[in-house]
Amino acid sequence: MKIAFIASECDPFVKTGGLADVVGALPKALKELGHEVIIILPLYDSIRKKNLHIDPFFGSMGVWMGAGVEHWCAVKKTVTHDNIAVYFIEYDHYFARTGLYNDSSNNDYADNAARFAFFSRASLQLLMDMNFKPDVIHAHDWQTAPVCAYVKTWGWGGSGIDKAATVLTIHNIGYQGVYPADVYKYAGFSEWDFRSDIFEDHGRVNFLKAGIHYSDMVTTVSPTYARETLDGSQSYGLAPYLNNKKERYVGILNGVDYSAWDPANDKLIPAKFTPEKMDGKRVCRNELKKKFGLDSSKDVPVLGVVSRFADQKGLDVFAGAVERILNSMLVHVAILGAGDANLEKYFSWLPSIMPGKAGSYIGYNNDIAHLIEAGSDFFIMPSRYEPCGLNQIYSLRYGTLPIVRNTGGLADTVIQYNEKTGAGTGFKFDYLSVDSIYDSVGWAVSTYFDRPEHLKKMRKTAMTQDFSWTRSAKEYEMIYLDILKKA
Ligand code: ADP
Ligand code: GLC
Repeated sequence: MKIAFIASECDPFVKTGGLADVVGALPKALKELGHEVIIILPLYDSIRKKNLHIDPFFGSMGVWMGAGVEHWCAVKKTVTHDNIAVYFIEYDHYFARTGLYNDSSNNDYADNAARFAFFSRASLQLLMDMNFKPDVIHAHDWQTAPVCAYVKTWGWGGSGIDKAATVLTIHNIGYQGVYPADVYKYAGFSEWDFRSDIFEDHGRVNFLKAGIHYSDMVTTVSPTYARETLDGSQSYGLAPYLNNKKERYVGILNGVDYSAWDPANDKLIPAKFTPEKMDGKRVCRNELKKKFGLDSSKDVPVLGVVSRFADQKGLDVFAGAVERILNSMLVHVAILGAGDANLEKYFSWLPSIMPGKAGSYIGYNNDIAHLIEAGSDFFIMPSRYEPCGLNQIYSLRYGTLPIVRNTGGLADTVIQYNEKTGAGTGFKFDYLSVDSIYDSVGWAVSTYFDRPEHLKKMRKTAMTQDFSWTRSAKEYEMIYLDILKKA
């Protein structure tokens, strides 16, 4: 099959979260199954600054939007190590900025709807102008959800674009691309479609909702999150539209890229280790303690955090528990993250009141993310909701036992510890509160000191679990084939 991925992030080019990991890894796995996959991204400033080898592809490309507006952009191209072609839509007016979606004060860019409507539309123009003729067009999240609507509502001549099956993957239904309706004309959709089951949302436009309506198939990134979005508990209002899709909405658990996240061959950590030979993990922990100013004179386990500081992640509740935890338990914390200004302030201040016990790094840093995964004993994700979550899956491979709220992909990937047998891979709690975080960390820490043989067994079980992409890629392949049959 010929498959075009259209997305706003892709590792290693540009990343703010797990979307980038998925768009970076799934095409590789699909290619290994024998498909031709290309990726289309916006050319952000940050990509340009990386000085990658990117070649001109189209010097100029005209893109009609609605209301008779035509933009002229350019297209660049590179080919990854895995031989996947990546195309970049170059349009500086929209993409030559410091942030992807927000300015430096964490505020949404006011023209986000226009930016991503344009990017969606331009990506399809590229497919047409390069005569790619995809069997499947795979869009991701609200940013490229309009792709599914353009495919079905615009005229595409003999280009084959309208023959392609469209798949929309929802990585996070908490972000729907809801913006003032004045962008609608510019985006170029018909007045007829400004209805509450397609684009309209309390007088505004909702890109994700329209994508759900128009795509041939909607997927999300874990089976439990699919259920939670269908039963309305986590759907942010979109449950009725997802229910309308019937068998055309499914949850497929994300895989992870073990070529980047495996302690046996991770180039970013100070010592490698495997389930059979764990000495390297202690070296990583020492290095982590040093880097984060943690006291290393005693055998005290480390609890790691790597996260966007967003409401979704429940770290505000963790912040309410962490001082009590550090005051009453033998455990240290190492925190890496950025986002919400209050949480940034709190976690950067914490080490000053808990010297030797708490360390933090505010910002985005991939090397430190790897060091935390490798050097910590436990990893906490107290998420309010978590469509899949990748960090807990990375943690499993590094023998860093996850402490998670029992939701979404966290529920699907972590096996609850059994105190009688030592089975399981982590510690799960249902209710998000300061007390349940305190109790679950307490349970983990007491396991570390009182039941070391269980800890060892859990680590081994965790490290030998397999969440590689091959399985998930086969599920996507089946879906693609299925919708092509139905189309
Ligand atoms: P989400 O996509 O909701 O942020 P995931 O767990 O799916 O959550 O993916 C997060 C990804 O982003 C992981 O690869 C994680 O390592 C990375 N990440 C998040 N915050 C940071 C940070 N501050 N520095 C480095 N990497 C980060
Ligand atoms: C989103 C979700 C996260 C998921 C990632 C990749 O950002 O918040 O849970 O793992 O997308 O699908």
